[in-house]
Amino acid sequence: MYPKQLLGRSGRLVAVGLLVAALLLALSACSSPQTTFDPKSDAADKIQTLYILIIVISGAIGAAVLIAMGYLMAKFRERPGVKARQIHGNNTLEVLWTIGPILILVMIGVPTILAIVGATRAPSEDALHVEVVAHQWWWEVNYPGLGPDGGTLTTANELHVPIGREVAISLKSDDVIHSFWVPQLIGKIDSIPGRTNHLEPFTASEVGVYLGQCAEFCGLAHALMRFRVVVDSLGDFERWVEGMNTPPPAPEEESFLASGQSVFIQNCSSCHAVAGTVAAGRIGPDLSRFGSRLTIGAGIMDNTEENLVEWITNVTAVKPVPEGLPTALAELGNGKQAMPRFDDTLTPAQVEAVAAYLRSMTIE
Ligand code: CUA
Repeated sequence: MYPKQLLGRSGRLVAVGLLVAALLLALSACSSPQTTFDPKSDAADKIQTLYILIIVISGAIGAAVLIAMGYLMAKFRERPGVKARQIHGNNTLEVLWTIGPILILVMIGVPTILAIVGATRAPSEDALHVEVVAHQWWWEVNYPGLGPDGGTLTTANELHVPIGREVAISLKSDDVIHSFWVPQLIGKIDSIPGRTNHLEPFTASEVGVYLGQCAEFCGLAHALMRFRVVVDSLGDFERWVEGMNTPPPAPEEESFLASGQSVFIQNCSSCHAVAGTVAAGRIGPDLSRFGSRLTIGAGIMDNTEENLVEWITNVTAVKPVPEGLPTALAELGNGKQAMPRFDDTLTPAQVEAVAAYLRSMTIE
């Protein structure tokens, strides 16, 4: 049935209006923070340049083919009394349309191959090294040499990098294949169990917060496996490292925060670590200086009191981890475990105290 018969005049108007609205909505998504069209690093710049080169060349070819086709269809259309000229081969044309595509492929191929080869270059000597380990469904972030006494500084789901200094990220996986992608800065490369992959070393060019996303389907919560890259000024980056390495001040005795700390140590410390306390679990994300993080749950919610309480109370309501998964993962015997819900083990007041304690550990 045609739309004309299906809809009245006003119905059609509404339909057109809806279409226009949908189109505008789709176009407005072009300003999405995960755009590749607004590069903020040398590596992302290079990809953008290559992309535009290929779009311009293929666009020009597409336009030329359509125009020539339209012209030929009009000029040589069937007309009464006119007989088509029979042509058998044309050497000049044969040579031209062999050489033409070869030149075009060289124009696209050479810069592409140079970019791919450049992506595997070794980082410079003063590059900042970051080791990222992908887990279902969050990111462990390690800075070898930046921790206390030259050890490793560990955090999760939020990378801090300084502006203007080369950053070399290596990728590992703790379970299945994931993929690390920050469209405006770098990516994407898979993190594969049993091997270490290296992203192209990149230098960020603008201070800001950049969205990252796992880009390889890795199970139920794949779409919720996000992260942030915070590009800091050099001073801010140093302050962040120093803040991360300074043990958080102990909460005042008998205070609300102290009760939160003790609930945390009793219930959470076998999975989570907080530098400077006895909590040293490695199963879940490291929560040192958690209060300074922008988001929770691998980048899916703002770091607010309310969201954190919701998260601790019943994580499965926020992130679709099946209730049976903790047991299923434990049966794999690799020490993996999903976060359980705590509404049956902790009182609401205890959950609030833990949330307040975690959020109190900030970096000034
Ligand atoms: Cu991790 Cu998709």
